[in-house]
Amino acid sequence: MQDYEEYLDEILISEQDLQERIAGLGAQITEDYRGHKLHLICILRGGVMFLTDLMRSIKIPTTIDFMAVSSYGNNRQSTGQVRITLDLKDNIQDRDVLLVEDIVDSGYTIASVLDFLQTRHPKSLKVCALLNKPERREVEVPIDYCGFDIPNKFVFGYGLDIDEYHRNLPFIASVDLERYKPAG
Ligand code: IMP
Ligand code: MG
Repeated sequence: MQDYEEYLDEILISEQDLQERIAGLGAQITEDYRGHKLHLICILRGGVMFLTDLMRSIKIPTTIDFMAVSSYGNNRQSTGQVRITLDLKDNIQDRDVLLVEDIVDSGYTIASVLDFLQTRHPKSLKVCALLNKPERREVEVPIDYCGFDIPNKFVFGYGLDIDEYHRNLPFIASVDLERYKPAG
């Protein structure tokens, strides 16, 4: 495995900026859902770091569940077709559901997942995305809570991977694709 510094373009969002923004999102969510219980659904794997920090800053009764999807594109470009590879454990009917996602890029993933979840009749369904790449949007999706808008660059760290690596980094960095060679 290569060290990321060889192909680091720049650190786009520092650990401190991430933590401050996520605390702010948690406070806003706490206010908006006060008096309710909230069911957080995290999309694996990229959303995991964000979920664990976000849920610590939400101060109302909260439950969590996970789902996984795979898109039929290559690793850096998703297509319109998204397949559910891990379904939820719990029923979401009549519950206030907040979908927690790492990044909205083309929008296809969130759009498919929202369609899928709506068929199960939640009481409410909203989206919280850490990152948003508006320039790449191909399908309109509602983002109720958004951490940061970022430029059209491929990013890694804080849950997001490049060929499955670097999810463990505590910041968000962009990759210099000219200097990047996949490991292995
Ligand atoms: P969309 O369906 O095009 O909106 O893509 C969403 C998914 O693609 C995200 O959940 C990520 O897994 C992945 N993705 C999109 N952009 C990036 C990126 O810059 N770095 C890492 N993963 C990304
Ligand atoms: Mg990915």
